[in-house]
Amino acid sequence: MNIDSAKYIISAMKPEQYPRGGHSEIAFVGRSNVGKSSLMNSILNRKNLAKTSSRPGKTQTINFFEINGAFYVVDLPGYGFAKVPLAVKENWGRVMTSYLANREPLKMAAVLVDARHDPSDQDMDMLALLDEAEVPTLVVATKVDKLKRSERVRSVKRIRETLELDDDAEILLFSSETGEGKKDLWEIIGEFL
Ligand code: GTP
Ligand code: MG
Repeated sequence: MNIDSAKYIISAMKPEQYPRGGHSEIAFVGRSNVGKSSLMNSILNRKNLAKTSSRPGKTQTINFFEINGAFYVVDLPGYGFAKVPLAVKENWGRVMTSYLANREPLKMAAVLVDARHDPSDQDMDMLALLDEAEVPTLVVATKVDKLKRSERVRSVKRIRETLELDDDAEILLFSSETGEGKKDLWEIIGEFL
């Protein structure tokens, strides 16, 4: 995909603030620090459009970006970050759940998991929520630049087993550092737009 324009639109906390441009949307979800914002910058060829941080809990609102004047990509807060106060966590949870479960223009959600670690119960919950909401999902294993060649197959197998994915469900290997997986990811996103 050629990215002619990538424009920040709004950081939303409630549905009234979601854009009403009528474009289709693709969202990126996953635990804090898994690399959602980095992945978005990587596939959009922008350095710092979505704000990233080495500390978990950076993205705290639902951030919409308009691409090529044609569709939106949506960066969401991460889950599973222990240091956030419970009340704040619950609020983010509500905000995210309500967005993912009820957002008509949402055509696909990429669920990011760290290729080095076992997916968590919260990743399972997220897949169940999206399934319930009938939002198509793609599991993306991030930070694969940190894996040795020999660890890749094992990583994919572990993610598939832990998340109880079908044998034919795709797990996309991705790295924001090297750009691995970008082309394939765009191809898949393109199918859902
Ligand atoms: P929250 O907004 O807190 O939910 O985090 P996030 O999922 O948006 O993660 P973010 O993109 O901010 O990245 C978290 C950290 O992981 C940063 O230090 C990134 O530089 C690093 N990181 C992200 N993607 C990759 C990757 O593909 N490879 C490597 N090596 N590091 C990565
Ligand atoms: Mg983020």
